[in-house]
Amino acid sequence: MSSPSLLIRRARIVLPSGELIVGDVLTRDGQIIKVSPSDIDETSTRVIDADGLTLLPGVIDPQVHFREPGLEHKEDLFTASCACAKGGVTSFLEMPNTRPLTITQEALNDKLERASNKCLVNYGFFIGATADNLSQLLHARPTCGIKIFMGSMHGPLLVDPQETLEAIFASGEILIAVHAEDQSRLRQRREEFANIHDVAIHSQIQDNQAALIATQRALKLSKKYRRRLHILHMSTAEEANLLREDKPSWVTAEVTPQHLLLNKTAYEEIGTLAQMNPPLRTSHDNEVLWQALLDGVIDFIATDHAPHTLEEKAQVYPKSPSGMPGVETSLALMLTAAQEGRCSLAQVVNWMSTAVASAYCIPNKGLIAPGYDADLVLVDLNSRKKVRREELVTKCGWSPFEGWNLTGWPVTTIVGGEIVYDRGELNTKVRGKPLSFER
Ligand code: DOR
Repeated sequence: MSSPSLLIRRARIVLPSGELIVGDVLTRDGQIIKVSPSDIDETSTRVIDADGLTLLPGVIDPQVHFREPGLEHKEDLFTASCACAKGGVTSFLEMPNTRPLTITQEALNDKLERASNKCLVNYGFFIGATADNLSQLLHARPTCGIKIFMGSMHGPLLVDPQETLEAIFASGEILIAVHAEDQSRLRQRREEFANIHDVAIHSQIQDNQAALIATQRALKLSKKYRRRLHILHMSTAEEANLLREDKPSWVTAEVTPQHLLLNKTAYEEIGTLAQMNPPLRTSHDNEVLWQALLDGVIDFIATDHAPHTLEEKAQVYPKSPSGMPGVETSLALMLTAAQEGRCSLAQVVNWMSTAVASAYCIPNKGLIAPGYDADLVLVDLNSRKKVRREELVTKCGWSPFEGWNLTGWPVTTIVGGEIVYDRGELNTKVRGKPLSFER
């Protein structure tokens, strides 16, 4: 029996070529069946009049921390996936620093089970590397990759001894994603600046050099073993310049909207809400990262959605935790940048969907074309609306971008052909599917 069909009428559609047409899209059984510049003449279960709206492939956010299991007071898979649906994010890849840590097949299975019960959008999970879980890393399935915290972490997920890193890079084939900050430099600088409680010191402690050293190290290991490497949330001009000079074809890199759009001046305005790892840098770093993204040195965008409660964030530095939420605002932020002429609409689609699907080998996602999954988002590029704390659905209840006046807000989000968000209303009955990673 075929599932309900959906006909989207007269949308501005971003085609795989990047070209924009006005036309219709028909979906059935969770897939895109037809894309046409003329009216599709078919009776459909549901019709959306998309006149004046722009249809994009749903965002795939390749780095989020959704806190379940174990840290649900900050966020959980249900609330996070609601925030995704509202933000136009139809798939996510989630990190292993939950409680328990996602460092075994059993913990991975538990997350997949929880997500199948609770997630409004599609999901995939990283497995975390430790000093002694290599056999788990070798056989974990399905996973988007192995996450290594080379720094900025404590407990078993911190992996920085050379021999452990060598062993992980030498064994198996799946993608390795690194949080690249050099732990020994961070340790030494934390001691040096231990008595300073102004959060602005965070960027000085975890400085550009700490990020560069770790990225250089990961790159070297990746070249030695020809191992697929992804550099998470690249934050410095130095790393971007390094990759511009020397980026093997099997290496990819991402940047967050906050590392493109915010810098150290944010501490003056929002204090510890601007604290994250790797830290915010300077306007020079912002510019160099933008150029690297435009030139293809950086491949795509991730939010590093890392919610903490306002109460936790109100603690005095360095007790205040690092991290900020992002899935609800990332698409509108990038579409606003496009409207301001920083990049094109087609580039935003590539960075937030197509290139992510391609880097993680996620089949049938990231394009609006027949045969692709009907994960779509209709956005309004004709109006602007401010980010307002009271409208956020992430459990942490705040955003570093409050007050920013953005365009491109999602009007309707579609996951597997089902409407999961429409004009302010979430359909919490919709469930996403596990992503697959074909290698
Ligand atoms: O700022 C951050 N917070 N960076 C990370 O990599 C981890 C994250 C968290 O889980 O809170």
